[in-house]
Amino acid sequence: VEHRVRAGVLEQGTVDLLTEAGVGDRMHREGLVHHGIELRFDGVGHRIPLSDLAGGKVIVVYGQTEIVKDLIAARLDSGAPLYFEAEDVSLHDIDSAAPSVRFRHEGADHELRCDVIAGCDGFHGVSRRALPQDRLQIFEREYPFAWLGILAEAPPASEELVYTRHERGFALASLRSPERARLYIQVHPDETLDEWPDARIWEEMRRRFTTRDGDWQLNEGPVLDRLIAPMRSFVAEPMRHGRLFLAGDAAHIVPATGAKGLNLAIADVRVLAEALIDFYRSGDGAGLDAYSETCLRRVWRAQHFSWWMTSMLHVAEGDPFGAQLMRSQLQYVVSSEAAATTLAENYVGLTNIPTRALSGP
Ligand code: DHB
Repeated sequence: VEHRVRAGVLEQGTVDLLTEAGVGDRMHREGLVHHGIELRFDGVGHRIPLSDLAGGKVIVVYGQTEIVKDLIAARLDSGAPLYFEAEDVSLHDIDSAAPSVRFRHEGADHELRCDVIAGCDGFHGVSRRALPQDRLQIFEREYPFAWLGILAEAPPASEELVYTRHERGFALASLRSPERARLYIQVHPDETLDEWPDARIWEEMRRRFTTRDGDWQLNEGPVLDRLIAPMRSFVAEPMRHGRLFLAGDAAHIVPATGAKGLNLAIADVRVLAEALIDFYRSGDGAGLDAYSETCLRRVWRAQHFSWWMTSMLHVAEGDPFGAQLMRSQLQYVVSSEAAATTLAENYVGLTNIPTRALSGP
């Protein structure tokens, strides 16, 4: 978990939460503050000034892998237990006031007796499957796109992220530091890394990032990490049953375009943490009761934004009409302040989503 390369763009709200929780020191030292992104299509780049359009908010480029390291270090420092490589994990009595988690660790059976269980165990974890399946509603969409991503020992060619639509497909130039570029290209979901030797990856990237004036040069270097990740949208509702609360990928997946996955998971955890504090301080369960509805408002906003960014920037085979619509949408976003503001406020993270579900008709 401290080596796998994951997401890398933090919304303002994520930065604020890590700071408030006392685990933001290294992020503030090493993270790169960005105020804009570039949208590139038809070989021309257009800067979207995120901070100007979204009330001064920024994004911070800091790898999820680094956050995981910081959180593990903080947990170990606290002296509280942390188990790795737990096996045969199962949840019990989630309908009761005394649910439990059973697991094997280093050959011994354990049972953790709980007041509540936070199911933060990812899409493939046991938590979502522990809910009565007839109570769950699943909403899903698969896209005919995947991302081939690399981490390269090469200085990023642009300081800010470049999201590119090219007739051969989407490409994204991101970074992890001033020395390391993180780059992605759209591929077919059934392609494998064997089909993509480094020379082919670089050639395809050079083509897709090409600018009409020829001024932009991709820096190349040794490839340190590579992956192929499919694009999908998934939501399981509700996010709570009894004393089990799902958070993050256990409940929802977004396609990567727009970098919402990690930020959504952290937003869930903030809602859950605040509700648990109320519950333990004063016995007030209203926050816990509203947890699912509160989180799902943000989840669906992010689902829409991620679907929109994905459709606008990727190229679907055999859909020339769709391609023209998406080019028109891009032209609108870079020429209308209203449209650019829509992108900006969603990208940096919306704060005007009520944190408590509103009651009413
Ligand atoms: C990165 C990932 C994203 O999904 C995105 O939209 C921007 C950047 C990244 O890994 O750097």
